[in-house]
Amino acid sequence: MCELYCKSDTLALRGKHIGPSCKVFFAADPIKIVRAQRQYMYDEKGEQYLDCINNVAHVGHCHPEVVKAALRQMELLNTNSRFLHDNIVEYAKRLAATLPERLSVCYFTNSGSEANDLALRLARQFRGHQDVITLDHAYHGHLSSLIEISPYKFQKGKDVKKEFVHVAPTPDTYRGEYRECHADPASAYANEVKKIIEEAHKRGRKIAAFIAESMQSCGGQIIPPAGYFQKVAAYVHEAGGVFIADEVQVGFGRVGKHFWSFQMHGEDFVPDIVTMGKPMGNGHPMACVVTTREIAEAFSNSGMEYFNTYGGNPVSCAVGLAVLDVIESEDLQGNAMRVGNYLTELLNKQKAKHTLIGNIRGIGLFIGIDLVTDHEKRTPATAEAQHIIYKMKEKGVLLSADGPHRNVLKIKPPMCFTEEDAKFMVDQLDEILTVLEETVGAQAESVIPANTARRAKVPKGAQVELLDNSTTDSRENPSRKRNGLCADTHSPLSKRLKT
Ligand SMILES: Cc1ncc(COP(=O)(O)O)c(C=O)c1O
Repeated sequence: MCELYCKSDTLALRGKHIGPSCKVFFAADPIKIVRAQRQYMYDEKGEQYLDCINNVAHVGHCHPEVVKAALRQMELLNTNSRFLHDNIVEYAKRLAATLPERLSVCYFTNSGSEANDLALRLARQFRGHQDVITLDHAYHGHLSSLIEISPYKFQKGKDVKKEFVHVAPTPDTYRGEYRECHADPASAYANEVKKIIEEAHKRGRKIAAFIAESMQSCGGQIIPPAGYFQKVAAYVHEAGGVFIADEVQVGFGRVGKHFWSFQMHGEDFVPDIVTMGKPMGNGHPMACVVTTREIAEAFSNSGMEYFNTYGGNPVSCAVGLAVLDVIESEDLQGNAMRVGNYLTELLNKQKAKHTLIGNIRGIGLFIGIDLVTDHEKRTPATAEAQHIIYKMKEKGVLLSADGPHRNVLKIKPPMCFTEEDAKFMVDQLDEILTVLEETVGAQAESVIPANTARRAKVPKGAQVELLDNSTTDSRENPSRKRNGLCADTHSPLSKRLKT
């Protein structure tokens, strides 16, 4: 018995009692998930969904070892970290062993937002500076202090950028100002940070920190060019600031070759503060800030105690230890590398086949598919991306579309994702893209002269037609029952075009 209410009642109660700004996935046709195992989720009817987006269920949904560890410790003791307990020190020791030596002091929190908020406090206390440089489209958390440094949020809301916040361009070599054809995009993007620092200094401002995800996730699965972080760190240090690497989304072996994504940049790059969360507790609320002894001492010298009621409690640390054990015993880092490479290979074949795919970028099990309607102009295929994620859902695959234009399909599944899962996901995508392009192409041919090279340009009227036609998608995976709920008339693509 996994349900208290039938789906329509759940929806109605949610509408009544849950804040309207708390959004659901697939808002036009939400899914009710009642249980999950490994990389699969199940709705109230028992329909299976392949989870390609949940990087929180890092070692797999409801991993038995993690569940057992939580249960064992809950039966014994749970209390705050003011009592001596072995779990917190054992976890801190194990975590520190995964990081470069100088990152050895931990502060435990309950969420990535709390971790980033504390990181800002550490940075500001260190030299007494206030200003923060953040990347465009970045998201670092939901607290007020983080909305202020998250252009992903404040650019969409009514908030204005605060004076102490400086927004540097995202080092995006596909869509940004300095692209893959640039001789040295790392230096070019780092120079933008240098210019920001110089401008700030001219106005008497002082830089406390540069904060960036080691790979930008909400920003569109962006991988910074090699050498960028080293150069930025040098400029920021020179200005008396610290480098904060936000690994809340991308840490704990997701990139395969390394445990932390910032390590891709080489051993000569070590951030001053690293924040982590989501995968750390495999769904249990657990997060952390790790920094250097010097920064921790400066924070302590302020005289203010840091106390966090739940941070680092014995249950959370038991869970965290179980997660580290599973990553190791199941070689999930190796799996991320192997399956990630295979998936990238499959997707690159799709890129050669489908004009809608502009760029495949990724490393390990962190991959983005940048959809475009015009390869040269790199015009974001926003409506198509939304259409695709709804069609993928019909086929039992959960994906999301993000980035500033919401045209990048994000892939960041649980780390137990297999080659069979990768193949299944790509096969479904292939079918959807084929139907989409055929329909669009057929429509386009009737309005474009016959000898015009066929691109995935979507004439306005054709999109509406396309949706009406595609409700009869005969290629749907026969192994899945069609639930008929995601009628195309509900999809955001049709909604957008019809309103
Ligand atoms: C990069 C990044 N940092 C921080 C956070 C905030 O983490 P939480 O939602 O656990 O507070 C998020 C959440 O999505 C995130 O993506």
